[in-house]
Amino acid sequence: MEMDFLPKEIDDYALGHTSPESDLLKKINRETHAEILMPRMVSGHLQGRFLSMVSHMIQPQVVLEIGTYTGYSAICLAEGLAPNGKLVTIDVNEELETRVRSYFSQAGLENRVDYLIGDAAKLIPTLVDQFDLVFIDADKENYSLYYDLIFDKVRLGGFILADNVLWSGKVVQSKIDKDTKAVREFNRKVADDPRVTTMLLPLRDGIMLIKKAKN
Ligand SMILES: C[S@@+](CC[C@H](N)C(=O)[O-])C[C@H]1O[C@@H](n2cnc3c(N)ncnc32)[C@H](O)[C@@H]1O
Repeated sequence: MEMDFLPKEIDDYALGHTSPESDLLKKINRETHAEILMPRMVSGHLQGRFLSMVSHMIQPQVVLEIGTYTGYSAICLAEGLAPNGKLVTIDVNEELETRVRSYFSQAGLENRVDYLIGDAAKLIPTLVDQFDLVFIDADKENYSLYYDLIFDKVRLGGFILADNVLWSGKVVQSKIDKDTKAVREFNRKVADDPRVTTMLLPLRDGIMLIKKAKN
């Protein structure tokens, strides 16, 4: 899905100076590539360690993830949860459910993860928790909608991360498709939103880091 922005030697060097993935995450990464469609969607080692680091910095009580896929990023995001914290993760693809539940249980997370199968646009309005951290990583077309749906559910001072905001570099190209248009609109909307402070971090395919500063 994303292109490689950095020379391979630099990527390798960065990984060589980054904590390793757990054996389970390595297995999920490997099995996703071997057995699942569109494996480039998986966060992978470097981005996974970034998500884990953010989670450790925030020590969230409640995390919401939109776009579980094979559970790789969910497990990374759960690593820094507060002692009684939990992670809610949503995906519309029911075909991955058995596999993902098994990965969550191998991670010892079966009691700390609410794994919801369905359309995020329908499910988010039913959620009653207040979130300390939200990771948006589902269909690009609906990023702006997800942002609007979650905003009031994020606590003041909480964080929102959105993945793939460089969309393989297409955001700066003149010929654009529907998804690129949606990603661009999302990026502009967030950058112009007076309620947040934001930065676009050019890690991998681009991650928007957003802090909710006002209601
Ligand atoms: C990029 S993948 C998520 C990757 C995962 N977060 C990771 O880093 O390993 C996007 C996921 O969003 C899911 N998705 C797409 N449209 C959705 C929707 N309307 N509601 C919920 N999930 C959706 C897809 O099924 C897919 O598994």
